[in-house]
Order: sequence, then C-alpha cells, then structure tokens
Amino acid sequence: MPLSQRWFLRGAFLSSLLSSANAFYLPGAAPHDYHSGDTVRLLVNALTPMLAGSDGAKIKSMINYDYYHPKFHFCEPEDGPKSEPESLGSILFGDRIFNSPYNINMLQDNETCQLLCRQEVPADDAKFINERIREDYALNWLVDGLPAAEMKEDMKTHERFFDIGFNLGEDEGDYAEMPALNNHYDIVLEYHEPRPNVYRIVGVLVWPSSHGGDQTADYDCDILTEGPALILNEENTNVVRYTFRIIWTPSDTPWATRWDNYLHIFDPRIHWFSLINSVVIVVFLCIMVSMILLRTVSRDISRYNAIDLSEEVQEDWGWKLVHGEVFRTPPYAMVLSVLVGNGAQLSAMVGVTLVFALLGFLSPSNRGSLATVMMVCWTLFGSVGGYVSSRAYASMGGTNKRKNALLTALILPSIVFSVIFLLNLFLLAAGSSGAVPFGTMALIVLLWFGISAPLSALGSFYGSRHGAITHPVRVNPIPRQIPPVPWYLRPWASTLFAGILPFGAAFVELYFVMSSLFASKVYYAFGFLALTAFVVGLTTATVSILFTYFLLCAEEYRWHWRAFLTGGGSAFWLLAYGFFYWASRLSLGSFQGAFLYMGYLLLLALFDFLVTGTIGFLATYWAIRRLYGAIRVD
Ligand SMILES: *[C@@H]1O[C@H](CO)[C@@H](O)[C@H](O)[C@H]1NC(C)=O
Repeated sequence: MPLSQRWFLRGAFLSSLLSSANAFYLPGAAPHDYHSGDTVRLLVNALTPMLAGSDGAKIKSMINYDYYHPKFHFCEPEDGPKSEPESLGSILFGDRIFNSPYNINMLQDNETCQLLCRQEVPADDAKFINERIREDYALNWLVDGLPAAEMKEDMKTHERFFDIGFNLGEDEGDYAEMPALNNHYDIVLEYHEPRPNVYRIVGVLVWPSSHGGDQTADYDCDILTEGPALILNEENTNVVRYTFRIIWTPSDTPWATRWDNYLHIFDPRIHWFSLINSVVIVVFLCIMVSMILLRTVSRDISRYNAIDLSEEVQEDWGWKLVHGEVFRTPPYAMVLSVLVGNGAQLSAMVGVTLVFALLGFLSPSNRGSLATVMMVCWTLFGSVGGYVSSRAYASMGGTNKRKNALLTALILPSIVFSVIFLLNLFLLAAGSSGAVPFGTMALIVLLWFGISAPLSALGSFYGSRHGAITHPVRVNPIPRQIPPVPWYLRPWASTLFAGILPFGAAFVELYFVMSSLFASKVYYAFGFLALTAFVVGLTTATVSILFTYFLLCAEEYRWHWRAFLTGGGSAFWLLAYGFFYWASRLSLGSFQGAFLYMGYLLLLALFDFLVTGTIGFLATYWAIRRLYGAIRVD
C-alpha cells in the first residue's frame, strides 16, 4: 500500500533474468531526446523511511511525508508547488510527485555552485526535522523518470550500484548527539549521446552534504568538506541555506539499459539457490504425494469394484463408506461460495498481472503500473468472481441466488475499503502524504462498486444459468454418524500442517516482496515470483487433496470448509512471518506505525487466505468428483 513507492518492475523474461545484464524492455516508454540547453525537469516525490546501510539496519517508520510538508521548509517553486499527473497505482503506492525550483538545462552550468534559497526553520520544526533524520528518512527525486540515487559499492563483488533515494541528514558517528541536516546537493547527471548533439539522461546520482557555518554568507563549493555540519537548533529559529551543483558526466550506458544500475542484487545466489532448493523439494514432494495418492486410490477403487462384481455380502470401508454424504450441503454454503468467488477473482488477477509482468509490459519508468494493472484486473474479473461463486453455490445446493450474487459483489470490496479507509485516517492524523487523496478514493469506489459489482452480478447471472455441476453419487437422506478423527486431522492442526508446504515454497521470495512493500526496496524479479506463485498453487492444491483424502478415509465427510481452510493454511504462516519480519527488520517507534503495519499485514494475509483457500477448495472439489465418479455404487 502507500508505504512503498517502488514496486518497480523490470520487464524481463525468465531467460533474460538468467543473464541479468541483458535487460529486456518492450517499447513502453520512448526515450526523451534533449539538445544542449533544453530544460531538464527535476521532480520531487514523497520522503520515505529507508534502510540505512548495514545488514542489521531496521526500518523505523511506516509513514511517508510530502516533500512540501510545511515542517520541512524545503525551497518551493516561485508560483508554488504543483502536483504532477500520476497513475492510480502510483498514487496508491504512495507517490506524491511535485515540480521543484531547480532550474536545470542540458549541459549548462557544469560545476557551478548555485544558491537555491534560504529558509527559516522555527524551533518546533527543527525538532520535527531532527526526528525524521534519526528515522533515516530519504529524499526521492526524479529526473526524466529516473530516481535520484546514491552510489554504493557492493562489499562482496565490489560492483557499483545505485541505491534509490538519498539521506535527509546524517545521524551517525561524529554527530552522535544531534543529527546534521543536508543542505547541499551535488547532482550528478549522467548522459549518453546516441547521435551527435542529441543527449539522453541515463543516470541520476545525488551526493548530499551538510554545511554549517554562517548560513547568510555566500557559499563556495570549492572550499567545501572541512567545515562543520549544519545542526538545527531546537531552541531558536534557524536559517538554512540550500545550495546545489550540477555535474554533467558523459556515460556509455545506452538508454535501454539505464535501469540496470538500479536493479542490483546483492547476492544473486541467495535468490537462486534458495529458490531452486525449495522448488526442487516442493516439486519432488508433490510428485511423491500424487504418486502415492494415485496408487492407493486406484487400488482402493479396484478393490471396491471387485467386491461389487463378486456379489458377496458387501462391506464398505474407507472413503467409499461416505459416498452418500460427500455432496451433502455444507453449513454456511453461502459464506463459503462468496469466499470462493472472491478468491477466484483475486487468483485471476494475480495470474494475469504476473503474465503482464513477465512479458515486460510493466516498464520500470512507468511508475505504479503494477498496481494499476492489478486494480484494473480485479475490477474486470468481478465477472469471474460472480460466475464461480454462483456455480459453487448452486453445486453445494444453495437456493438463494440473488443473495449470493449481492454478497459476492459487495462483501470483500466493502471490507477492504473499510480497512483502507481506517488506515487512511491514521495516515491523515500522522500528517503523512501516504494518505490516499479523496479523488483517488472516489475513483476506487467507482471502479469497485460501479464497474466490478455490476460485472460480478453479470457473472452470477451466467453462473446460475449454467447451474450446479453434476455429482456422480447421490446424497443419502439421513446423515451418517461421524466417528472421532485423529488429532492431526482436526481443523486447526491440519490447517497449520498443510500451510507449511506452500509457505515453505514461497518464503524466500516473500522476503523480497516484504522488503519491496515495507522497506522501499526495488522488486523486479518477476520470473522468480511467477515460478514461486506456480509452485505455491500446485502445492496448495496437492496438499488440500491429500488432507481431504485422509479425512474421508477417517469417515469425516464434511470436507467443503476443511478443503478451503487447508488450502488457506499458508496465510497463517504468512501472518507469523509478518511478525517475524517486524521483529527482525522493523523498529516501529510509534503506535501509528505499528497499527499501519498490522493493517497492511492483515490485508495481505486475507488476500493470501482467499487465493490459496480457493485453489484448495476447487482442486479438492475436482478430485472428489473424479474419485467418486470412479467407483460403482449400488
Ligand atoms: C563537467 O565537469 C566535470 C568535472 O569537472 C567533467 O568531468 C565533465 O566532463 C564536465 N561535463 C561537461 C559536459 O563539460
């Protein structure tokens, strides 16, 4: 949600991920050609908390601030800041882009020191700024669609890479007691010259520094470094002089690969080995499980059918015993079918978004395109949700079709919307820019309730026309007694056990996804993500079928809800992982931060629960129909 601005995407096929040097972009964004002297716009985005360097570092806040938040007192353009048009996804993920007072012209004013403005910072605001520096806030600028970065070196490979964002101030070592505010920026703009006199921007680096001393005096960039740092006084009004210097450096990087520097993987082997490891384990497990299952089941079937043929006194056992019960209407069939419908809608959204990402349609300079595609897909797949829900409902013997259509269309969007609304209130109270603006909220309401809901109703209509799926065996009029089941088949135990496998397949990628959501890290490994999603889907389906088989063998025939829960079991592990992540990577000082994190985490877990639960349920339904279709019942 609004925490991370940078769920950036790199359009790359799996194969091009193998050789990360060959970035592959579809022509989404065309390069901007500049001539000498052309205006180059510098845009400013919201300030975000960032991971400060070393390994043990933690994220200290969950709140973004507008660049022009009045307490920061950054220099403003003469006629006031104006916001830039942004996509829906970009706004939802926290981008708040404004113009800036920096006058930059292609190849002009190289190395000239320039005064931007002088600002007065009252004592209260000085305190506010110092707190933000202690929380490691970073400034986020954009030039020609590229984020301003700090150059860092990978300790292991000694490769240089660009770390997006740069520090608001310094709070380390020498300034142990009071943090220093950065008030000078060396802006290094790397350009590439594809044709004579045509220039393209291929890299943006900012070296911020802090310069104390007399803030009313002129400032000469040539005599920098040695002077004292600028420390804001929390008792008096401070004067701050903001200066900058543009350095134009020629670069060999062509425009097409300019994002490569930003998409640095610290240790690609972590990604690979862990992922391959878990994929191998999980695929191996799935194959084993399905082989065992197939052999046992086919032996069961031939034994059942053999007995039937020999026409002796027949004694059923195992799962055949409950053939008259398995298709009995489960309790709360309405709720279950609504969950399944919404889960199907989300699954379709995830699938299509991943395909888009894999095909490289979501280019990194197209900010927020991932979230936008997700929103649009969810809206359109309302029809899928309605269809699946109404058919599942009819198949489970439900009769109140209208109520089903209504609930499917409205319940989940309403819940999600209420949670976002609540979190938004918190963000507003904290003065954060991450709060979704009113216009965007209205747009979401329109998308969900104006387009998605009618589509869902349409889907329900077609779903109920197609009606219930046929069942191979009839339901007995009188329900059977259910014997007590072993402890590991009780709902909680089986849900938690079953969840381990899909979670185990995903948790390596999950770390990167969490970092991109909560720690403003770039996410672009969509090949890995798609592979992981596929493995998770497969594991979820297999495990749900397996547990349901055990359940039926134990003569416990109420499998509908259990299949959904077993499938969704990974959501509980996701939640647990979220707490682990909180403990190990976050250090949220404020109540608001904790509350926001919990809110986002719960939404994430809810989505995971719906998607995996639905996969489990539908896969099990399919398997059970096959299973009971294979035996002869007199
Ligand atoms: C700008 O100045 C830097 C440092 O002095 C130099 O390396 C670079 O070539 C200059 N760029 C241009 C376009 O003159």
